[in-house]
Amino acid sequence: MIQNALTWLDQRTGFVTLTKDFLTEDVPGGVSYWYTFGSATLIALVIQIVTGIFLTFYYSPSATTAWASTKFIYENVTLGQFVISLHYWGASAMIVLMTMHLLQTLVWGAYKKPREMQWIVGVLLFFTTLAMGLTGYLLPWDLDAYFATQVSINIAGTVPVIGTAIANFLQDGSTMGTLTINRFYGLHVWLTPILILLLVGAHLAIFRHNGAAGPPVDEKPKKVGQFFPDQIFMDTVVAFIMFGIIALLAWHSPAPLLAQADPNDAQFVPTPAWYFYSLYGILNASPPSMELVATVILPGLAVLVLLALPWIDRNPSRKWGTRYLLFGITAFVFANIVYMSWFGAKVIGERQAASGFHGLTPIEGAGAPPATPTPTGGAVVPSAAGQQVFSANCVSCHGAAGGGTPNVAPALANNPFVSGDAKAVILTVGNGMHGRPAMGQSYGSMQMPAWKGTLTPDQIAQVISYIRGAWGNTGGPVTTAQVRAALGGKSSSPAKTAPKPKTTPKKH
Ligand code: HEC
Repeated sequence: MIQNALTWLDQRTGFVTLTKDFLTEDVPGGVSYWYTFGSATLIALVIQIVTGIFLTFYYSPSATTAWASTKFIYENVTLGQFVISLHYWGASAMIVLMTMHLLQTLVWGAYKKPREMQWIVGVLLFFTTLAMGLTGYLLPWDLDAYFATQVSINIAGTVPVIGTAIANFLQDGSTMGTLTINRFYGLHVWLTPILILLLVGAHLAIFRHNGAAGPPVDEKPKKVGQFFPDQIFMDTVVAFIMFGIIALLAWHSPAPLLAQADPNDAQFVPTPAWYFYSLYGILNASPPSMELVATVILPGLAVLVLLALPWIDRNPSRKWGTRYLLFGITAFVFANIVYMSWFGAKVIGERQAASGFHGLTPIEGAGAPPATPTPTGGAVVPSAAGQQVFSANCVSCHGAAGGGTPNVAPALANNPFVSGDAKAVILTVGNGMHGRPAMGQSYGSMQMPAWKGTLTPDQIAQVISYIRGAWGNTGGPVTTAQVRAALGGKSSSPAKTAPKPKTTPKKH
């Protein structure tokens, strides 16, 4: 019965024979877990497509809705936070696996004749995937998305001759807004995926034409394995392990979403995606006159050298013993990229610390009026001074109306802890806090920074009085004396600079 159906199908389409040919394909040199990087990259791409389509069902690309619809996915969509985090970690997984695949191809010399075209398509895939990461980064429209993308658009603008046209196309207007989101959305969900699918198709078709390269030896390897079931089994094992790791990360460290993009928050220091840290590092390690070298010439050269590699390295042998120069150069470049990534991350961390992470100048203590001296409990009229301290220092994490930010900081609105014991709240705000679940949720690596070095006791009293009387909270105001008593004398001399927050939200 099934056999008849298959025969019927095969006579009309040839699909069954095709599949059989594909599955019984020989694998030179025997099957190996070394061959699984490519297939794992492909599975990671499938995860990105599936989760990405899910996200488009809810995401709404405009300046007024992008952030709100992303927040809606976190908070109101069943499994929404998990899927968005799968998409977030899946992107990193795809880039890591693709890099391994590329490095292995390099080391094994699999780019050599007759596989030049497969190599070229692979290199194009690599950079198209990076473009995917870059365009997706803007879509949540939070502070990081906005300011990191602004940097990218500015860099694109420095490209000689065509730079201004590219930047104008990407931004489409005098400031980033709905049209910018629509441009990036179109690139992220239409143009780049179509390109990637076409390139993957070509990559696989050429692979079928040439067959697997096998281990790096010149003579035809004697050992031969079969694609099905041996190699398929290994590919499946690795795919499951990879999905397990992505799912674990998504569950344990969900993707962060900062406060909504605010173009006026001019001092905000964004965190770019980790795979662009190295560019950031090179940019910051080079003097201003060399900026173009760092942002355009060096990356451009890297693309060209990779594309032309089969012709630059004319040594026909794939044997390791004959290729030490290539290994040396590869190791040198890779070590530099790792070092520059580390340096870039360090620079970003320092800048964020200097700006108090949330990027707003802390209000200096001078002249701030004392907290509203309303004595007893019950809701008080929020003091203007406290509100000011709050919007300058707390909004970026705890949200404008104290509504909190998913995976970054808890809501302070309607929060029994905030309304409760005054001393506990003073200690939390003064000394910082980590690991005590707030509003029934734990905040992973995110910490509440200590404020006693940054804010004066007056300001701490003001902001606590404010949050205890705002958004449905019912705690009484606290006095400067209470703050001094709880935090000790140290807090009476405010530091000039912003605090170094223990942790900043990381986009991985
Ligand atoms: C860098 C982001 C960040 C900033 C800025 C920040 N907070 Fe927090 N805050 C947190 C995190 C994260 C927690 C929860 C920590 C945990 O549970 O481990 C928290 C917890 C709190 C809590 C305890 C809530 C509870 O239910 O236990 C209070 C109160 C609070 N913050 C007040 C403030 C005030 C006031 C400011 C401004 C002066 C401020 N926060 C600025 C991240 C931040």
